[in-house]
Amino acid sequence: MKILILTGAGISAESGVPTFRDANGLWEGHRFEDVATPQAFQRNPELVQDFYNQRRRSLLDAKIQPNAAHRALADFEATHQDDFLLVTQNIDDLHVRAGSKKVLPMHGELLKARCTHTGEVFPWREDLDESTPHPTRPEIRGTLRPHVVWFGEMPLGLEQIEVAARQADLFIAIGTSAVVYPAAGIVRQTKPSCRKIEINLDATPNSGQFDESIRGKASVEVPAFLSSLSVS
Ligand code: NAD
Ligand code: APR
Repeated sequence: MKILILTGAGISAESGVPTFRDANGLWEGHRFEDVATPQAFQRNPELVQDFYNQRRRSLLDAKIQPNAAHRALADFEATHQDDFLLVTQNIDDLHVRAGSKKVLPMHGELLKARCTHTGEVFPWREDLDESTPHPTRPEIRGTLRPHVVWFGEMPLGLEQIEVAARQADLFIAIGTSAVVYPAAGIVRQTKPSCRKIEINLDATPNSGQFDESIRGKASVEVPAFLSSLSVS
């Protein structure tokens, strides 16, 4: 069986990473145009770097750990023969830390930095600012940016995601508000015979596209649903 998973901020909420659009969400206090667009980075690079510096520091706090939903997905991948792909909109590294192997972070990775001149990508755990020296080209200055996809930029791995969506026999969307495209459109790329499951605290604009919408916490519902697959 070919299985495609899509995760969003909701799966990391119980690990202590704030979601975007819920009450106290990350966008609160910031207009996304001011911190998550290429234009914002041109206009006010300090503000944008600082927004991501704070998020990177929070992610590196020892209190932030994968939860039962991340672990259940990793265990499922490790113990089943199915063709499995985990596409995440999250820029945290919690799926990888939980042990997932086939992870496609379509909105980039907070613990990486990218050179705006060469496109080189580097593992990154420190703050970034305009004076951060380039890791391999000291003559290039002030050109490292977070390796994240901003609004108006192209998400990563779209061709691979489209192929996986067309082929999937089972598609599970977990903890995503389904308002940001193209991620929100993946469910419509699946074939009619694909079984489609949504796991979320609440209904989303996409709920009608799914065969089943499971309402509840990811840490409870993801392990429960995956174990129901193992016994059926
Ligand atoms: P859109 O969703 O159609 O996306 C426009 C572009 O953003 C596309 O090029 C897409 O490839 C790219 N994109 C998709 N996901 C992205 C991501 N996670 N990070 C960066 N780029 C991404 O259009 P839009 O106008 O950006 O957003 C759709 C709606 O969502 C709008 O109504 C917008 O106001 C709203 N929105 C709200 C917030 C918020 O919570 N304050 C944040 C962003 C967007
Ligand atoms: N269990 C299950 N679902 C949850 C939980 C939980 N414990 N907590 C919150 N949720 C659900 C909410 O009901 C909401 O539908 O998770 C969803 C989180 O939605 P958003 O904050 O909008 O996050 P996401 O869908 O990942 O955002 C998409 O938008 O801003 C951009 O790049 C950003 O990747 C992000 C993208």
